[in-house]
Amino acid sequence: MEIFVVPDAAATGTVAAGILAAVVRSKPDAVLGVATGGSPLPVYAALARHRLDMSGVRAFALDEYVGLPSGHPQSYAEVVRREVTERLGLDPARVSVPDGGALDPQQAAADYDAAISRAGGIDVQLLGIGHNGHIAFNEPGSALDSRTRVENLADRTREANARYFASPEDVPAQCITQGLGTIMEARHLLLVAHGADKADILAAALQGCLTADCPASVLQRHPHVTVVADEAAAANLRPGGVVAVRVEDTAVGV
Ligand code: PGA
Repeated sequence: MEIFVVPDAAATGTVAAGILAAVVRSKPDAVLGVATGGSPLPVYAALARHRLDMSGVRAFALDEYVGLPSGHPQSYAEVVRREVTERLGLDPARVSVPDGGALDPQQAAADYDAAISRAGGIDVQLLGIGHNGHIAFNEPGSALDSRTRVENLADRTREANARYFASPEDVPAQCITQGLGTIMEARHLLLVAHGADKADILAAALQGCLTADCPASVLQRHPHVTVVADEAAAANLRPGGVVAVRVEDTAVGV
């Protein structure tokens, strides 16, 4: 596992976008795994500045709420359209989000898992980490080999995501999420984290016990993980394996 520590949130975007841009340049038909939430926003902003030809790129989102009306601004289909597809100039037909409005969400989840495989699997999966250690919506207790499925959101996750909705009760109770086993099949995992509120969970996930109580700890088993954290999020990491990066010095900077 490589852990890069950079000064601030914007620099997490610069470094992570540099890694993604290098993948797209070397493989113009790359399959990217994209994430929603606040953590990846600096990455998309920085990646847009690379002005890459994204016409051959495919993208799969990690998760979606179940039950929001089609076109709801906080549905991940809409968030991905606004923050990822439009900003990066992706072909909307090549961007997939689980169908949270499906009549049979379990079937939609299984179909989504199969679609990722049919696309040849994900080359690089961008990830954030929740305060309870979730990745995608794999809440504590998720099986480490779980597949894309319907899940209940943890209360803590609904509270964290209430900032995007008019009231906490408006946050859906269920989601479709890629499973931990699905995520682990991506060839490269790229975790981004910024802010002091992520310091405890980042250290637990990367350097604590590998346990379903902290789903992100499954990353310890993956052969190719890159973590890009700002100094605040990295504050509790033990120094071993941690590389401080000055963005202006790095080959992956813009
Ligand atoms: P955040 O969410 O990036 O908005 O902090 C991360 C997550 O819940 O996975």
